[in-house]
Amino acid sequence: MAARIGGSVLVTGSNRGIGLELVRQLAESTSAPAQIIAACRDLYGAQEFRSYLQKAADQLGPARTGMSCSRAAIINISTLLSSVKKCPETFSMAPMYPYRASKAALNMLTCCLAEDFQRDGILVMAIHPGWVKTDMGGPHAPVKTEDSAKGILHVMSTLTEKHNGSLLDWEGNGIPW
Ligand SMILES: NC(=O)c1ccc[n+]([C@@H]2O[C@H](COP(=O)([O-])OP(=O)(O)OC[C@H]3O[C@@H](n4cnc5c(N)ncnc54)[C@H](OP(=O)(O)O)[C@@H]3O)[C@@H](O)[C@H]2O)c1
Repeated sequence: MAARIGGSVLVTGSNRGIGLELVRQLAESTSAPAQIIAACRDLYGAQEFRSYLQKAADQLGPARTGMSCSRAAIINISTLLSSVKKCPETFSMAPMYPYRASKAALNMLTCCLAEDFQRDGILVMAIHPGWVKTDMGGPHAPVKTEDSAKGILHVMSTLTEKHNGSLLDWEGNGIPW
């Protein structure tokens, strides 16, 4: 069964694209989080959020053991193109050297944070949202923003400690580093 996402959720890049759609679906959900913090280009807000995560992870109650998005989690939006293992399959469709390299760095950051934060009960992992019809994905992308956001939120609701430090796609499939 899917777990509830919340207490508080921070979405960065929330002014357009997948970030905006995630905020819209979270706000309209029948089990909406108590707080949705929608940030765009606001580093100060992102730093502040660590203390909120810690507070959420420390609270007592039935959902306060193990790791999950109903306790405290950081979900980084990565990409299939970050996968070194998948590079021989994906390179010709999108060479994009700087993008691939920066997302591979994000994956390492995800793994480091996952190691660092697990003692505090904060889950950290990364999700590939699919090839999505946004400004970035372009008009020929096969996945609609609504479907990508819906998939991401569903995957988030199924996460447990076994997913800590992993990379999954928007349908819940594992992607090798
Ligand atoms: N669309 C796809 O097919 C696809 C596939 C794989 C992964 N992704 C990943 O999904 C995420 C969202 O992409 P999207 O398709 O929704 O893109 P998008 O529609 O182009 O929106 C990008 C968002 O990121 C913000 N942003 C861009 N550069 C930033 C920076 N340097 N610092 C802070 N915020 C910045 C933008 O803010 P401003 O409006 O202020 O510029 C905007 O809110 C990205 O991480 C992307 O790599 C997308």
